[in-house]
Amino acid sequence: MSKQGKTNKVTISTIREMKAKGEKISMLTAYDYSTALVVDEAGIDMILIGDSLGMVMLGYDSTVPVTMEDMLHHTKAVSRAVEHAMVIADMPFMSYQCSQDEAIANAGRFLKEAGAHGIKLEGGREVADVVRRVVSAGIPVMGHLGLTPQSIHQLGGYKVQGKKKEAAERMIEDAKILEEAGAFSVVLECVPEKLAEEITASLEISTIGIGAGVHCDGQVLVVNDMLGMFEKFTPKFVKKYANLNTHMKEAVSQYIDEVKSEVFPGKEHSFL
Ligand code: KIV
Repeated sequence: MSKQGKTNKVTISTIREMKAKGEKISMLTAYDYSTALVVDEAGIDMILIGDSLGMVMLGYDSTVPVTMEDMLHHTKAVSRAVEHAMVIADMPFMSYQCSQDEAIANAGRFLKEAGAHGIKLEGGREVADVVRRVVSAGIPVMGHLGLTPQSIHQLGGYKVQGKKKEAAERMIEDAKILEEAGAFSVVLECVPEKLAEEITASLEISTIGIGAGVHCDGQVLVVNDMLGMFEKFTPKFVKKYANLNTHMKEAVSQYIDEVKSEVFPGKEHSFL
């Protein structure tokens, strides 16, 4: 990445300009300092501290148990690493649904205490008032439509959303409502390509797709999935750009062998 890229911090204005110019937006999750350093130095536009950390980092089987304290802890670590990207923190389940005042206070903690530049929350019309209030408090908000994992028990599984005409129309309306409420961008997760294309064309704000096809204004993936680190479950929309799980296991096996056979530590790793 160019030096200029590194010093030019990505902001909400950059994201708006990218949509206007038709320049694709790259986004990945990161949950810890070391990974965030790599992702930021590679030149990513936005980093999401997704509540997917509940599954990838904490071993839960959904995002539902993730707490504000979990999210703040990981957001702080990522923010310490990032110089270039816009940092977005996910509002965890039940941190914005109970009351608008609580939602604003929780959203504010991500900026004040954890160094994020904006927050993401799931839902359409039902969260529009919260989005409006959080935005009017000066906090950039990214929406999230389609498969919204915090509602997994209501959705009945991790499935493509908006396949039926009525559901598709509702999603198009929800995207418009989020835009009108002041969201600067919206994630579309597990949405048919054509529907994502239609939503993208109908909005002035950017759409960021995950399992939503190539016509979105940008793409996001879970970093552990795309690096091939997390092998428990690989959704269809994940492309593996590396196979770190295999590399890591090979390295650990070699280390074990070398410890057992006294090949490690060698003279060069010892203080003589
Ligand atoms: O939690 C997360 O990582 C997300 C992305 C997959 C969009 O919400």
